Amino acid sequence: MKTINIAIDGPAGAGKSSIAKEISSELGFIYVDTGALYRTIALYAQMHNIESETQLIDQLEKIEIDLSFIGGTQRISLCGDDVTDDIRTPEISMGASKVSAIPEIREFLFDLQQKIAHEHNVIMDGRDIGTVVLPDADLKIFLTASADERASRRYMELKEKADCPTYEEIREDIIKRDYNDSHRAIAPLCQAKDAILIDSTHMGFYEVCTEILAIIKERLKLDD
Ligand code: DC
Repeated sequence: MKTINIAIDGPAGAGKSSIAKEISSELGFIYVDTGALYRTIALYAQMHNIESETQLIDQLEKIEIDLSFIGGTQRISLCGDDVTDDIRTPEISMGASKVSAIPEIREFLFDLQQKIAHEHNVIMDGRDIGTVVLPDADLKIFLTASADERASRRYMELKEKADCPTYEEIREDIIKRDYNDSHRAIAPLCQAKDAILIDSTHMGFYEVCTEILAIIKERLKLDD
């Protein structure tokens, strides 16, 4: 049976994951966060003190990554250990952006992403889902917001935590990652020609979810 595939791409902090999670639970689809795959490779490199690209490429066959979906929530394991929570640090965010520019790494993760999409109805979020991983996706959304707005949302999320970075640090990090992700030679972050652009700078979370859900239902002729 043909599965339904929805791609949501966009820059860091645009709200892709929380929005995709909400919408996929509404539709009963699996939500696949592909950034977690790059983060897990960055974690592997950090754990093994790998600093050179060649060293990381040489070790690729030792990197076993498994995704599971428990109650619609993605868990990710690295060589048998659940690392879902360990990959959410600023160092790993930057490390993921770096490893994601390595062509061999993108190739390594490509089949896994396509396999999941062929087996399940998915909402898959990332940077190159509509352009490279699922060029024939049933619907493509490009979700963005200004860097100031994305930084301020992330700051609000983190500000109660003891080791919260400053707003300026978060903003700088976002701008650096935007630059890396959209200037790399392979599969750079960009809007697919047939993607629908949603700029959420002046929109609330539920407003964005409602708009995307309406687009999905209309385009894919899904019933309410
Ligand atoms: O979505 P995220 O912030 O968790 O992603 C971490 C990094 O991984 C991001 O800076 C770029 C990279 N990435 C990518 O290159 N392609 C994807 N499909 C998903 C993420």
